[in-house]
Amino acid sequence: MTDVADTTRTDPIRTASIGDEAWEAPRLLTAVPGPRARAHVLRDQAVTSPSLPRAYPLAPARGRGSVIEDLDGNRFLDFSAGIAVNSTGHAHPAVVAAIQAQAADLLHYSASDFYLPIYAETCERLAATAPFDGPARVYLGNSGAEVVEASIKLARHATGRQHIVAFLGGFHGRTYGAVTLTASKAKYHAGFGPLLPGVHHAPFGRVADLAWFDEVLFDRLVPADEVAAIIVEPIQGEGGYVVPEPGFLAGLRRICDEHGILLIADEVQSGAGRSGRMWAIEHEGIEPDILLTAKGIASGMPLGGMIARAPIMEAWHAGAHGSTYGGNPVACAAALATLDLLEDGLIANAAVQGDRALTALAHLPDAYPGVVRDIRGRGLMVGIELDTPERAAAVELGCFERGLLVLGAGKTCVRLSPPLVVTSEQVDTAAAILEDAIATAARR
Ligand SMILES: Cc1ncc(COP(=O)(O)O)c(C=O)c1O
Repeated sequence: MTDVADTTRTDPIRTASIGDEAWEAPRLLTAVPGPRARAHVLRDQAVTSPSLPRAYPLAPARGRGSVIEDLDGNRFLDFSAGIAVNSTGHAHPAVVAAIQAQAADLLHYSASDFYLPIYAETCERLAATAPFDGPARVYLGNSGAEVVEASIKLARHATGRQHIVAFLGGFHGRTYGAVTLTASKAKYHAGFGPLLPGVHHAPFGRVADLAWFDEVLFDRLVPADEVAAIIVEPIQGEGGYVVPEPGFLAGLRRICDEHGILLIADEVQSGAGRSGRMWAIEHEGIEPDILLTAKGIASGMPLGGMIARAPIMEAWHAGAHGSTYGGNPVACAAALATLDLLEDGLIANAAVQGDRALTALAHLPDAYPGVVRDIRGRGLMVGIELDTPERAAAVELGCFERGLLVLGAGKTCVRLSPPLVVTSEQVDTAAAILEDAIATAARR
């Protein structure tokens, strides 16, 4: 473990190889899915909820670094990371050791009713990362959707206002409040109404879109002084890895300041170092009032965090919010180990490898005109925009068949979100496989 810390300080790329040296990928022993995976898919389909939107028949059994091995022993280069979650890679020795040590000491004690030491320590560490001036307080939940829900309650409570603005293309989760904010695909709402009242959806991304607030929302729908919060992903995730135009987030900050509205940055996907900074909003130099984190912050253990300006969180009373499991000690131990690794080189590695991936893919729109529409992203959030949903699905499946795990996003985008330990060699291999899959899909 000490070796990890020592090498990371000087060389993020060397650090990135820790944990996966012994596992070369891709290494396909069978056509995929292999016989065990195929049998497992049938077993799964007989008993699990059909609401789960499975992407392709991967049956993961174990992992090391940026490599996943399936039930048939096939090894895949993992550029999906369990939907942008395994920030430190699979089975990082420092994270595994922290989890094992904590599990042997204390598996659970609820921080809602008692003073769990590691809970406060995790809150202190997260508060220290807050991308705003002044003191911060932190609430811990179990997932992204849970902290989105917490932020809706806190914003309404702290402002005494009820309306919330989210964005078209945004994704915030699947519980009732979170799914009401979500507007990336109509299927997430289909059949579930009525949803949470008081939620409005604004156009996302261009500075010109900001006129919607004065011309539509405040003029025709609700007075600005009844809006509690604007919740925004600094880089849209599920909506297709969309980076807003420079000035867009600053414009939101201006609108919030003018009308006493809270700005909530949903960094569940873009945060925890993935963009090449701890928080993606830092790229624009904008300070949110509340920041949400989950994926990546505990390397895959279930943990969500809501980091708020202290006076905002001090507005609610004991009993206003809590959770039996939120901030579970084992998840907190994983988060503390993860934060050490992020600060010791992995955020730097995300910036370096993200640039490398964007450079390696930059020629694709010219090489496949009309088929590849755009290459975009920041850090290790890289989006490849295809021309049709069918083509995006064909590329996703084609990568899987070649031993590379990627995931669709939006209607026509394929996203790359590898662990932050990914190496230059792995990025180059993934880019070559991806191009091969695109070339095949383009001939259809
Ligand atoms: C930006 C964002 N917010 C919230 C969520 C919901 O997180 P969870 O699936 O942990 O509830 C997600 C999940 O993809 C997300 O990308």
